[in-house]
Amino acid sequence: MGKLFVIEGVDGAGKNTLARRLVSAWERDGLAVVRVGFPRYGRSVHADLAAEALQGEHGDTAGSVHAMALLFALDRKDAADEIRNLLSRNDIVLLDRYVASNAAYTAARLEQSLDGAAVEWIRSLEFERFGAPVPDVQVLLDVPVALAAERAAARESADAARTRDAYERDGSLQTRTSAVYGRLAETNWASPWRVVRADVDPDRLAADMFNQPSAEPKVTR
Ligand code: TMP
Ligand code: MG
Repeated sequence: MGKLFVIEGVDGAGKNTLARRLVSAWERDGLAVVRVGFPRYGRSVHADLAAEALQGEHGDTAGSVHAMALLFALDRKDAADEIRNLLSRNDIVLLDRYVASNAAYTAARLEQSLDGAAVEWIRSLEFERFGAPVPDVQVLLDVPVALAAERAAARESADAARTRDAYERDGSLQTRTSAVYGRLAETNWASPWRVVRADVDPDRLAADMFNQPSAEPKVTR
């Protein structure tokens, strides 16, 4: 059975770059690794609807915090069997965003912290009701929110297809999301977390993650 790893962080944190470096490190060690990014754009109708809503389509969908969270959660519900299948055939499945994204952004939109209703709603909806596999390790890529925002803005000017969405344009949402992520990591929400900065040594992190003893599947708030 492979290990399930997750990279989390605010928009523009640099998750994609870190994911590529981790995959190279593991592959150099001869491990079989697959990467899945959430939302699964182009593969999940729920993911596509969510992206369209954040670009202003589908009426007041984006205005509903819970409707948006349900779309993201349904994408993962549809992916749960595929993730289990990938875990049975690989050493590592690396996810770029996962359930904690929904916990962090949903709580942040509602101006709640870890102990508000949103985080527990997501935990029970996704891990219990939808049976989303619980990660072995979650990594928070913690970069200053201002830097992440600059990167999201730079992406927009470089590539017309990457117009910033409603969440990326909302600096105060990104700041609150970063705070909730910090609390999720501090409390090892759902599984052990590692908090890393952009200058983390990817080879060491890759080794540390792979050698992390598997905790009893733990689903706590
Ligand atoms: P993306 O920027 O990774 O494409 O994701 C789109 C936005 O949706 C991003 O601001 C994070 C947010 N999001 C959630 O709120 N819940 C989720 O479950 C996921 C995967 C993303
Ligand atoms: Mg984004």
